[in-house]
Amino acid sequence: MGDVIRVMISEEEIEKRVKELGEIISRDYAGKTLHMICVLKGGVYFMTDLSKRISEDVPVTLDFMSVSSYGDDTKSSGVVRIVKDLDQPLEGKDVLLVEDIIDSGRTLYYLMDIMRGRHPKSLKLCTLLNKPDRRERDVKVDYTGFMIENNFVVGCGMDYKQKYRNLPYVGAVERIEE
Ligand code: IMP
Ligand code: MG
Repeated sequence: MGDVIRVMISEEEIEKRVKELGEIISRDYAGKTLHMICVLKGGVYFMTDLSKRISEDVPVTLDFMSVSSYGDDTKSSGVVRIVKDLDQPLEGKDVLLVEDIIDSGRTLYYLMDIMRGRHPKSLKLCTLLNKPDRRERDVKVDYTGFMIENNFVVGCGMDYKQKYRNLPYVGAVERIEE
């Protein structure tokens, strides 16, 4: 395989940061039940790792949804179709949406709107990676793992053509063998 992927954020750095985020979130949600929502498939690695770092004093519940975006591959319209909806209602819950990466913000902007319409008690957003330079839509990010420059990255749930999600580090794609 001729693809070249450079380690950008190591497994150790990610583990350390996820632990820190877990501590911060545990403090913020003290006395509440934290309902974590993962957008499949990219968010699944980060959400499960993060959920293990939430204090045992804060009960955690999980739910998953899967969306596909309309529009071509190069530019998503931001309008998403729900392929698999959440199993549970959000009404009255303290909801934390967990994402792998926020790029243009289009998908998240739309999704947060859908979530808000389901009347959670609170709604926050946590992302492992944040690429602020590429933002087109103003989304409020409550918890960020790492700010990164405008590189295309893989690993920790993120893919290139469905591959590399399982890499334990965040890698920048330097060359792809076509
Ligand atoms: P947005 O609507 O542009 O913010 O799209 C965000 C989604 O695009 C993320 O949830 C990822 O699935 C995907 N994405 C954006 N940047 C990258 C990247 O660098 N590597 C892999 N997937 C990415
Ligand atoms: Mg995603």
